[in-house]
Amino acid sequence: MKKIALLLSVLVFFAVASAIAVPPKKTLTFDKSSMGAVTFSGTVHKDAGFKCKDCHNKEMFPKMKQGTVEIKMDKIYAGQLCGKCHDGSKAFAAKKNCKRCHVK
Ligand code: HEC
Ligand code: HEC
Ligand code: HEC
Repeated sequence: MKKIALLLSVLVFFAVASAIAVPPKKTLTFDKSSMGAVTFSGTVHKDAGFKCKDCHNKEMFPKMKQGTVEIKMDKIYAGQLCGKCHDGSKAFAAKKNCKRCHVK
């Protein structure tokens, strides 16, 4: 019994670890805004052709950990953070497309 329990916990550990380690398959939910929660899909962004470094760099999201950068709309509108791409050229503009990010 003990062995099975150990094996199971090892399997669960690896399943969880791989889910956390590879954001392409992961979604992050940012739910602090009254406009509705924003779901960030690792897969959508990977399929758009981005490398980790395109976002995980000093200017944008240095740490691979949710909640380390405070995301505010004034930054996004100013072309920072998500707004580095969501500016109407690399990706849909933030200003006219609230509901593509914020879903109630
Ligand atoms: C389009 C932008 C973007 C790309 C590309 C991207 N990430 Fe992220 N990633 C983010 C953002 C935004 C966060 C949340 C950061 C924060 O809240 O401070 C994040 C968080 C993470 C987290 C933490 C998840 C958690 O649950 O806390 C990990 C791990 C991570 N990324 C790994 C990667 C890896 C590995 C790659 C490349 C395969 C990658 N990311 C590509 C934007 C991106
Ligand atoms: C490196 C560029 C880049 C960054 C940074 C980035 N995105 Fe994106 N995002 C894209 C591209 C490209 C698409 C595909 C849609 C398009 O072409 O407009 C996309 C798609 C999305 C979609 C899918 C919308 C839909 O209608 O299918 C959401 C939601 C989204 N991004 C949210 C975010 C959020 C939130 C952040 C910041 C945490 C972020 N993105 C940062 C480039 C980026
Ligand atoms: C590219 C995705 C994206 C688009 C488009 C977008 N937002 Fe946001 N917004 C976010 C993210 C991510 C946060 C951070 C939420 C959190 O921290 O939980 C946020 C936060 C907010 C906040 C709370 C923080 C602040 O800056 O006051 C408000 C209000 C807000 N958004 C309004 C809007 C409105 C209005 C629009 C359209 C004109 C819009 N957003 C379009 C991604 C987006």
